[in-house]
Amino acid sequence: MYGLVNKAIGELVVGGFGKANWEAIKARAGVDEDVFISNQGYPDELTYQLVGAAAEVLKLTAEQVLVAFGEHWVLHTSMRNYGPMMKSGGKTLREFLINLPNFHTRVAMIYPKLAPPRFECTEVTETSLHLHYMTHRPGLTAFVSGLLQGLGKLYETPCTSTVIARKDQGEDHDIFAVQWVQPETS
Ligand code: HEM
Repeated sequence: MYGLVNKAIGELVVGGFGKANWEAIKARAGVDEDVFISNQGYPDELTYQLVGAAAEVLKLTAEQVLVAFGEHWVLHTSMRNYGPMMKSGGKTLREFLINLPNFHTRVAMIYPKLAPPRFECTEVTETSLHLHYMTHRPGLTAFVSGLLQGLGKLYETPCTSTVIARKDQGEDHDIFAVQWVQPETS
């Protein structure tokens, strides 16, 4: 994955738990990079090692780290570095989710070697939908839960998501049932 991802894990840890913990996590993960370069590719394995080491050092589960990272990715990494791109994703949470299947097409203009996930929306109503998440990468379900949590906060739209199908339990791909409160229209 692009270095942007590992760099963002570092920002999350340093911001929430301090630099010493980040150094400990990198050491435990066997990473000798001082800093990650955003537009340089790194093996996926390294990112998984960082998440695993973060869980051990911070005494959290890997799932808790991934949820926190998903929220941080939306509210901080994406908004700070790619605000206009995020804003063009939609005016409401519903619109953003419906446009999500096309989102990484634009990201790929900046990161040409991107190997992004695929998303699809079905069962769309005014206040809910099913989000299908397709990827060749294992173990990132909790990351998507965190991303959805972050989007709910970004749009100030209380929302919940429930995983109703899991690839790691033999289904074809993960499916999230997402529900939100309809924002008041002025
Ligand atoms: C401007 C904002 C965003 C940027 C720049 C971005 C960029 C990236 C990058 C660089 C990766 C690593 C993949 C690779 O390097 O090949 C990635 C992965 C991923 N992105 Fe995005 N992304 C953005 C927003 C989002 C949003 C809003 C969502 C969903 C709500 C999302 C969902 C994911 C997921 C789930 C992965 C994990 C990879 C996988 O499942 O295979 N991203 N993204």
